[in-house]
Amino acid sequence: MTAEARSTDFHDGGGASAATADAPGHALYKEAAADRLGFWAEQARSLLDWRSAFTQTLDFSDAPVARWFADGTLNVAENCLDRHVRAGLGDRVAIHFEGARGDRQTITYAQLTASVQRAANMLLDLGVRAGDRVVIYLPLIPEAVVAMLAVARIGAIHSVVFGGFSAESLRARIEDAQATLVITADGGWRRGQVSALKPAVDEALRGPGTESVSRVIVVRRCENAVDWDDARDLWWHEQMDAAAPEHAAPAFPAEQPLFILYTSGTTGRPKGIVHTSGGYLTQAAFTHRTVFDIHPERDVYWCTADIGWITGHSYVVYGPLANGATQVLYEGTPDEPQPGRWWDIVDTYGVTVLYTAPTAVRAAMKAGRAIPDARDLSTLRLLGSVGEPINPEAWHWYRSVIGHDRTPIVDTWWQTETGAIMISALPGVTQLKPGSAQDPLPGIVAEVVDEDGHPLEPGGSGYLTLSEPWPSMARGIWGDPDRFVETYWARFPGRYFAGDGARIDDEGDIWVLGRVDDVMNVSGHRLSTAEIESALVEHVGVAEAAVVGAADDTTGQAVHAFVIMTAEGSAGLDRAAMSTTLRDWVGQRIGAIAKPKSVVIVPELPKTRSGKIMRRLLRDLAEGRSVGDTTTLADPTVMDQIAAAM
Ligand code: WTA
Repeated sequence: MTAEARSTDFHDGGGASAATADAPGHALYKEAAADRLGFWAEQARSLLDWRSAFTQTLDFSDAPVARWFADGTLNVAENCLDRHVRAGLGDRVAIHFEGARGDRQTITYAQLTASVQRAANMLLDLGVRAGDRVVIYLPLIPEAVVAMLAVARIGAIHSVVFGGFSAESLRARIEDAQATLVITADGGWRRGQVSALKPAVDEALRGPGTESVSRVIVVRRCENAVDWDDARDLWWHEQMDAAAPEHAAPAFPAEQPLFILYTSGTTGRPKGIVHTSGGYLTQAAFTHRTVFDIHPERDVYWCTADIGWITGHSYVVYGPLANGATQVLYEGTPDEPQPGRWWDIVDTYGVTVLYTAPTAVRAAMKAGRAIPDARDLSTLRLLGSVGEPINPEAWHWYRSVIGHDRTPIVDTWWQTETGAIMISALPGVTQLKPGSAQDPLPGIVAEVVDEDGHPLEPGGSGYLTLSEPWPSMARGIWGDPDRFVETYWARFPGRYFAGDGARIDDEGDIWVLGRVDDVMNVSGHRLSTAEIESALVEHVGVAEAAVVGAADDTTGQAVHAFVIMTAEGSAGLDRAAMSTTLRDWVGQRIGAIAKPKSVVIVPELPKTRSGKIMRRLLRDLAEGRSVGDTTTLADPTVMDQIAAAM
């Protein structure tokens, strides 16, 4: 049976309490519980086309590095493109592209396939070979999707860097992966302005450790003036025109690396998470189809994530395209040029499934319901949430104002490292609970454990762990196998520890409580306290820095920094000016998303006698609470001094 035949039809209503004992989804849970590996093998066979069949499902002999379907071969791009065209679906729209300024493109599967074939030839002409790393630094435009799939098609490895990251962040990622090629654009449109990208690439490539890059391909998007290095830079459109149109997709082993995606952890250095091909694509396709109950022949799906994040990889590019779905791709922000832009897009394209982050829902809530109410959102039948816990208030607003009290909401928990959704309700199967991510999907084993790694009884709170390997799990950290083991597998031996705290309620449903490590979650984006602190102390004026994530009405958490000045920084200090300087400094070092909401200059930081900074107390201050237990502080008066500086 195909997943499509099994999936639950939600077109005819189905509310928040649509659980029925005979819902077809139940069969998936049963099948997976009876034979987990057999279940995944069946998904891999039914959802993907294999060039040579696999005989082995999982090899975990080199745990924690798993190999899935390892003796099978396939081509990821062919699975996302050519096979749909061969099946007669060439005229189906793959992408409805909406540019920030209102320009539109309708791209069919046949057209997307043709572009990717040409782009694959373009890369080959430039000497890119299987296994080489290609950095993609682009706005959210169709070329970004084409570039990713072309890299995948020739067995090379893409590393997409979010366009909001700075030249220095880009440089560090180029260096770590030793990329040979960068694909960028002159700029992207942002609120009516050109947000230039090429200058950041130029600056990154002037920096150390980037000599591996021999070519830069530049998409012409905004026609802004850019500096040009004749020996290195090439226009995308010229190279595409010169490339041969047809490219036969070669077969690669299932474990061929597909991409590296950098994510923040608890240290100052981002980790290059490595994903491979067959297992990743299987789970991306399975979850996209099942969690969103996708009917490719009639749904118009829209995931609002940028391709710079894992959500954009799995639920803009690989999952939807593997399933032959029709989707919307939108370059801009929710509120340009007016606050109803998103809802106009839903209305215009007849979006049926919308997948976004709680931050966006809270921002829309603030703007007021009159804005969505003025649009026709009646095509929507399923809503998804990702990236951070969704507070019940936002959940209810999302469901009643956007979903007109009809649409189920799936709250999907997963991570860059898990590659695909792990915990979610299934529409039509699970009784929905506002604020709870609910159950591990079929084939996934998640457990909440105590300090000692013992699974908790219902009612308990502890650490969210995954106790069995899954197809789309990360295969490692690029260039640092030891760090992979230490970061994820050492805290609870035999289990993957995700960094999140969770509660298990009396019915066994999982409530994700947020990070228990020094990782912050701002607007659904992961930021590391250590990374921002180390950026701050690189400024000559800063002697010490402590960064905390404090609760924020719109962004979930916001970054607050507390800094001690050096003698140099203190000379003639203008606090307000220094704070602005430091915010901008962090923006330049890491990217605008990492800019602290506040930078407070303080005489001292709260430290224990052994010198450990007590961030918990700073969080109390930033959240406007009375400060908690200070008895372990070396100097108990320090909190008053800090409060006075705020
Ligand atoms: C958080 C994003 C609560 C969590 C896909 C996780 C969530 C981190 C949810 C991963 C959710 C993601 N409910 N928290 N539904 N989804 N998170 O790698 O803290 O950017 O560890 O992947 O986001 O962030 P990442």
